[in-house]
Order: sequence, then structure tokens, then C-alpha cells
Amino acid sequence: MSIRLSTGEEIPIEMHKTRMVQKIQLIPVDQRLKAMEEAGYNTFLLKTKDIFLDMLTDSGVNAMSDNQFAAMMNVDDAYAGSMTFYEFAKSVEDVLGYKHVMNTHQGRAAEHLLAKVFAKPGGVVPTNYHFTTTKAHIELQGMQVLEIYYDEALKTESTNLFKGNMDPNKLKNVIKKYGRDRIGFVRMEATTNLIGGQPFSMKNLREIRQICDENQLLLVIDGSLICENAYLIRQREKGYENKTVAEIVKEMCSIANLYYMSGRKNTSVRGGCIATNDLKLFELIKPWLPVYEGFLTYGGMSMREIGPMAVGMREMVDPNVAGCSVEQIKYFVNKLVTKGIPVVTPPGGLACHLDAMKFLPNVPQSEYPAGALAAALYIASGIRSMERGTVSMDRDKDGKDVFADVELTRIAVPRRVYSMSHIEYAIDRIEWLYKHRSLVKGLRFVSEPPVLRFFFGKLEALDGWGLNLKDAFKKEIGNA
Ligand code: F0G
Repeated sequence: MSIRLSTGEEIPIEMHKTRMVQKIQLIPVDQRLKAMEEAGYNTFLLKTKDIFLDMLTDSGVNAMSDNQFAAMMNVDDAYAGSMTFYEFAKSVEDVLGYKHVMNTHQGRAAEHLLAKVFAKPGGVVPTNYHFTTTKAHIELQGMQVLEIYYDEALKTESTNLFKGNMDPNKLKNVIKKYGRDRIGFVRMEATTNLIGGQPFSMKNLREIRQICDENQLLLVIDGSLICENAYLIRQREKGYENKTVAEIVKEMCSIANLYYMSGRKNTSVRGGCIATNDLKLFELIKPWLPVYEGFLTYGGMSMREIGPMAVGMREMVDPNVAGCSVEQIKYFVNKLVTKGIPVVTPPGGLACHLDAMKFLPNVPQSEYPAGALAAALYIASGIRSMERGTVSMDRDKDGKDVFADVELTRIAVPRRVYSMSHIEYAIDRIEWLYKHRSLVKGLRFVSEPPVLRFFFGKLEALDGWGLNLKDAFKKEIGNA
């Protein structure tokens, strides 16, 4: 939650205390430059010993609660029929309202199964926005992803409170153009990861449901960040101000045919799941689960993760869990806005996203501004962020770069991990970097894998700009 100080300023406040800690270190800027060069200007390839604040992602790195740790110790290990799985299934029924659930080892494994089972080769999957792994799995099944957002979604600076909405008219046009038989399913991602963690509204979800009903289409929710979406609906959508996050999550789930999630985000563990109330759909997916993941009652997960996932599922709808990153992000983003730094607004879930094209106007998209900015931020601060722009898009079949709609440097805020002084430090170093942005130039690929190249690709700094940035930092701030 947030709290109003006697000065009138509102600040995020942690509704938990820290009872276990992990040491982190800030290596000097000389060493940070060296580490970045060794990592091929790709923040995925850094080692954590060289990282001060790891804001690459919230995935699998949120702080678990004491009750989750306790649940980890008290599990029923069995290949089949584990009671820990049934405890999880009960949590899913109570919190999401779904009677049928299966675990998968991660969210992308759920995507794999859904894309495989509901594939319409040569067909399409309309979505409010793609996610990297979702797109890869859908395309591997011979389908195309169609993003049918409102134009406002790609405006990084905006006052639109629901940039994650799907445009119903565009959905109608897709149905007209392709015919319902060529549509695998309709996918709503809560919240839209790649365009700034932006939520969709309940009104929009209902509109999309109606079109799906009229055309007998499956509506799938990617609920990896459903609680953040629900928390933002509560704050932003008329009629929901007095509903609880738990009620909003349940209402969202009741609208979809199928639900899947990366449990690495909302439930703060390492795993995933697929859930539904439609037994027929469930039975279509079930036979494939042991082929790719594992038996129905573990689905590729360890019981030591399913136990805390059952607890995390119940805890995630607590407003102090659902809102703890959202409130920190709001503070982070609003502070940067007051300093004139280009950042995605309104603040969403998941992260603070810098608009790299505005931050580095001299770096063209062909030289990967979001990747350059992520590397520069690491050199200037030891903070690890993530490129979410053209490097995160794979080349087309002719080998040409596919330019991303937006070039974002994502500074994720994992739940209950970093303090306000960490956020203040990040704001300060981003401001310093903004003042020295003319020193940052583009990147060029040195080696590049054929799929999801952002994971392992190596790049180099054009004109060796890393050195100039490091020297400027050292001169002004020292070797800190
Ligand atoms: N869907 C969404 C919306 C996601 O954000 C992610 C993962 C996945 C699916 C895949 O789930 O990682 O458990 O296999 N997002 C992570 C991130 C990787 O850093 O944002 P997974």
C-alpha cells in the first residue's frame, strides 16, 4: 500500500518485515565495464556476483513469505496422487474459481501445450499484445500472432488508464478476414508485459467475451500478472473501487474459458499452471501433459514448489502483495516524470520502463537503443535491467531485423525484494545517465542465435562508447 506523510507526499510502504537477507555488492565502475564487455552487452549474460540490484525481471525472484517457506518443508512427495497437488488444486478453486488445474514447469510450458492443442495451422491467435515465449510457441505451431490493441497502447507517454485493452472492432475484423475456423484462440494478457505492464479493464474483457461467444471462440487469459491487473482495475475502473482484489481476480477468471500463468510472478515460486472449468477442454490438454511435462499431479514441478505455490495462490490476492510492486513502480515512474525523463506512463505493473528511443534519440532502431540503454544503466549503476525492444524480436525469414513497436528498457521491481533507498538510488543513476546520454551510442550483433536471440546473443558497443561512459562516471562520481 501507500501512505500519506505529514508533508502530504504519498510514498509506497512495505507491509512486511525482512527476516532473512542476502548480501549484495556494488563492484567499481571499472569492473562493471569489464563485466558488460564480457557479457557481450547483453544483461542476460552477466553474473549475479557483478550485479548490485537485479532488476532484470520479477520472474522466479520475488521474495517468498514465511508461510511459503514453511509449506516448502511440509510436502507429500509422490509421482502420482500427491496431496500437495490437491492442496494446490483447492487453492486454485478457491482463488481463481476453476475446478480443473494442471501444473506445468513454467508459463511457457503452458503456452506450448495450449498452442499445440488448439493449433489451427495457417491460422491466427489475436491478442492484446504478444509475449516473447507466447509468440514463439504459437509460431512453432504454424500460426501467426495478431496484436489488436488500441493505437494508444504504443504511446509510451499517455494518460490512458487501460492501454492493455483489446480493440473489439479489430477483433471483429480479424474474424471477418480469417473466419472463426482459423482462429486458435483469443488471448488476453494481464498485464501486457512488453508494452509496459499495462492493464486491461473488466469492461473490455467483457466486450471481448461477447464477441468470442458470438463466434464460438475460446478466450484465454494469461494471468501471470493477474493480481497487478486486478489491483489497477480497483484503482482505475469505475464500479470496482469497493471490490477486493480477490473478487476482481475471480470475476476476471469467470470470464475466460482457459487460464494459464507463469507461477514465477504472482505466486512467487518457480512453476506454472493451466486451469479451466470446462472439462472437455481440460481433457483435450491432459493427455499431452505427461508427454512434455510430467504426470497430472506434478506437471514437471517439484512438490517443494507446488506446496508454496498453493500458499502463494492464496496470498497473491492480498492487496499488500498484489499492490506492493505497483506502488513502488508508481513512485519510481512519477519521480522520473518530474525530472523530465522519458518513461512509460501511466505506471503499470511489473516494472519501470524507460522509453529508449526518446532517451537516446541519436541511436536508430537498427542499433538497438533499448539494449544500449540497459548496458549503459548497468555501467552507471550496477543495476541489471532488460532490453525489451528490437533485440527481443527475432529476424524475419529474409534475415532482416523486425523493429519492435516500442524500444523499452525494463527495470523490473520484484515483489518485496528492494527497499525505497534502492529505488532512490536507481532514480539518481538514471538521472545521471540521462544528463550524459549523448555518450551512449548503439550496439551491433557479434553472434546471434536463430530463436529468442535476446537470451544468448552477443553484441558490441559502436565506437567503444562503454569506455567513454565509464570515464565520465569515474570523473564525476568516482570508482563507485
Ligand atoms: N506470459 C507472460 C505474460 C510472461 O511475462 C511470461 C514470462 C511468460 C508468459 C512465460 O512464463 O517465464 O514462467 O515460462 N515472463 C518473464 C519476464 C520471463 O521476465 O517477464 P515463464
